[in-house]
Amino acid sequence: MNSSLLSLTNVTKRFASHQAVDGVSLEVVAGDALVILGPSGCGKTTLLRLIAGLEIPDSGEIWFAGAQAAGAGRSMMPAHERGIGFVFQDLALWPHLTVQRNLNFVLESVKMPRADRAARALEALKLVRIEQLSSRYPHQLSGGEQQRVALARALVGQPRVLLLDEPFSSLDPELRDALRGELARLQRTLHVTTIYVTHDQGDAAILADRVIEMRAGRIVAVNDTKRKEQGA
Ligand SMILES: Nc1ncnc2c1ncn2[C@@H]1O[C@H](COP(=O)(O)OP(=O)(O)OP(=O)(O)O)[C@@H](O)[C@H]1O
Ligand SMILES: [Mg+2]
Repeated sequence: MNSSLLSLTNVTKRFASHQAVDGVSLEVVAGDALVILGPSGCGKTTLLRLIAGLEIPDSGEIWFAGAQAAGAGRSMMPAHERGIGFVFQDLALWPHLTVQRNLNFVLESVKMPRADRAARALEALKLVRIEQLSSRYPHQLSGGEQQRVALARALVGQPRVLLLDEPFSSLDPELRDALRGELARLQRTLHVTTIYVTHDQGDAAILADRVIEMRAGRIVAVNDTKRKEQGA
């Protein structure tokens, strides 16, 4: 046990004969902004899914704020109790629900009283500047708008940790820059702990206090960035 918000010790995960995550240890304190860089297939998504409780480690331990969430072959804390907001690589918006109801679904799952849900959803939509789109369905939104909905949905439950899996990779460079800038602004105003997965070195300079490089399931380098040194 220690003062970390999130702690991983020697976490491994194998799929058939493939070692997707291979002995990862990581300490994350509240307010940290981590960027995980690494080539396709190195285990980035699997690592996020382990943290979120969507996969169970084969060995190692995962702790949240002093409580064990997972150990070898078992989960002690279900996904919905971990306080995670997740922006998935493919967004995974619920297609049959409007924007408002995509957010409400999360608020129900965190047991927010019904009377407070609309205000909280509106607040999250305002954060990402799409409050006017709340009654649209995902297919009625542009790619960039869908990314914002995914971000709002991840933030609406006021997560302890925000996990973002290449959230802006499918966007054109201009929109990508704009959304990346907005995420940096949200990090500063909400002080939300973030772990952001990307292939793109450029993301790290803007979004990271610490850059973690992964190769073949392992962390091979950890670098503090200028951003932190400058207190930005
Ligand atoms: N459910 C699964 N069943 C079998 N193999 C899997 C499964 N999930 C991931 N893998 C394998 O584990 C490895 C790591 O996958 P992962 O999705 O974590 O990579 P990634 O770093 O996120 O890659 P990308 O940058 O392409 O998204 C890959 O070789 C992948 O094929
Ligand atoms: Mg991935």
